Amino acid sequence: MAESLRDRFGPVALVTGASSGLGKAFARHLAREGFDLIITARREPELTALAEELRAQYNVRCLVRTVDLSDARAVDTLLASLGEEEIDLLVSNAGFGTKGRFEADSLDTCIAMVNTNCVASLALCHHLLPGMKARKRGGVILTGSMEGEVAFPFSATYAASKAFLHSLGTALTAECEGSGVDILLLAPGPTDTEAPRKQGFSNEQLSGLMAPEAVVEGALSQLGRRSYWMPGWQNRLMIRMLKWLPRRMAARMAGAGLKAALKKSGRELV
Ligand SMILES: NC(=O)c1ccc[n+]([C@@H]2O[C@H](COP(=O)([O-])OP(=O)(O)OC[C@H]3O[C@@H](n4cnc5c(N)ncnc54)[C@H](OP(=O)(O)O)[C@@H]3O)[C@@H](O)[C@H]2O)c1
Repeated sequence: MAESLRDRFGPVALVTGASSGLGKAFARHLAREGFDLIITARREPELTALAEELRAQYNVRCLVRTVDLSDARAVDTLLASLGEEEIDLLVSNAGFGTKGRFEADSLDTCIAMVNTNCVASLALCHHLLPGMKARKRGGVILTGSMEGEVAFPFSATYAASKAFLHSLGTALTAECEGSGVDILLLAPGPTDTEAPRKQGFSNEQLSGLMAPEAVVEGALSQLGRRSYWMPGWQNRLMIRMLKWLPRRMAARMAGAGLKAALKKSGRELV
């Protein structure tokens, strides 16, 4: 009989950014697979409602931890609150972005984005990988973005923060070879969650928008098989074409595409 996801990577998974979108879909999928969960985000009511749903539906243990990952030391506090709990699968997924000119965001917002998108994943990997390696088993999923593959004008800090994760994930994959720990860098394209709306897009106007459940199912099926997964053939094709171009030309095209998508959503970038 084929080894289940829980047998291979369980029994305990920590999912960040579980109050909505991809994180919520990861938590639901993993609970269905029988994982015990620790779910985190800032919005407590959403997390509590999800925990109650998962406990009732799948009879799993589900701990809730509210945490603001824009604070660079938040991961220390989070892990201290978990005591001796062993985490076998890390889904480091929390993140946010903005769209607009670089200087339109305050420096505080840019730093909060880097802390949430990069520092939190770095800290979680730094704390949790040694234990996984010692036990010779474990899994890590880092949620990057297709924007981590090329520079995106009007999304400069976000794209750069995701490029950090892509590099980190690839390097850690090579370091962890033969250790029993599998790492997957997930690089989604547009996905039907709160994120595009928060960035000024109308989800209805975005082409190739994927369902979060499909992205999560794909990612979990690739963990242990590949180290990198970009869901959606249109996304893969677009990034392949952009990467074939000189870097500056690719960035210009990526920026123009982003501007056009925002315009379709009724937001003009000046
Ligand atoms: N949707 C897309 O098109 C898309 C494409 C590529 C990559 N991604 C990436 O996918 C990941 C999940 O995003 P999503 O699409 O599911 O969007 P989402 O629905 O907005 O979810 C983002 C999650 O991150 C959490 N989060 C944001 N800032 C946080 C902070 N300071 N501290 C703790 N938690 C925080 C949010 O929870 P609270 O607000 O409750 O804190 C929420 O649970 C992100 O890393 C995003 O960059 C998304």
